[in-house]
Amino acid sequence: MAIRNLRYEGDEILKKKSREVEVIDEKIQTLIDDMIETMHKYNGVGLAAVQVGVLKRVVVIDLYDDKGPIVLINPVIIKEKGEQEVEEGCLSFPNQFAKIKRPAEVVAEYTARDGKRMRVKAKELLAQAISHELDHLEGELFIDKIIPGTLEYIEQENN
Ligand code: NI
Repeated sequence: MAIRNLRYEGDEILKKKSREVEVIDEKIQTLIDDMIETMHKYNGVGLAAVQVGVLKRVVVIDLYDDKGPIVLINPVIIKEKGEQEVEEGCLSFPNQFAKIKRPAEVVAEYTARDGKRMRVKAKELLAQAISHELDHLEGELFIDKIIPGTLEYIEQENN
């Protein structure tokens, strides 16, 4: 496992669309391990492969609860419900936080790292994280969707 270099605001790769994973091979497994380690190092709740410079549809999420990290390969949101106004940041935009509207609930389908196709019904923070990370796969960034006037710069320790 290794920490990968994060891609930051202004890096054009962040606006590119990621490609489907066709085979979950050793290279993808290593990418997943490295993404989890990188997310944890920077205390992130989620990370998309594009944020470490890999244009593949791979996302990791960790709410730091008893469930541990979730790995979503080729995820698709199949249902969205309601709306929540939430505070949000992104590892590619250090120290920047803003209010944004996200779906209150999402149902997503994804392939787990063992190759099984799964379905998750999510609300609150998990729904927000799934929505944010799946946007990354389309090259969409939270900063372009924030509620105007809510952007704050908050210096964080250990960054
Ligand atoms: Ni992000």
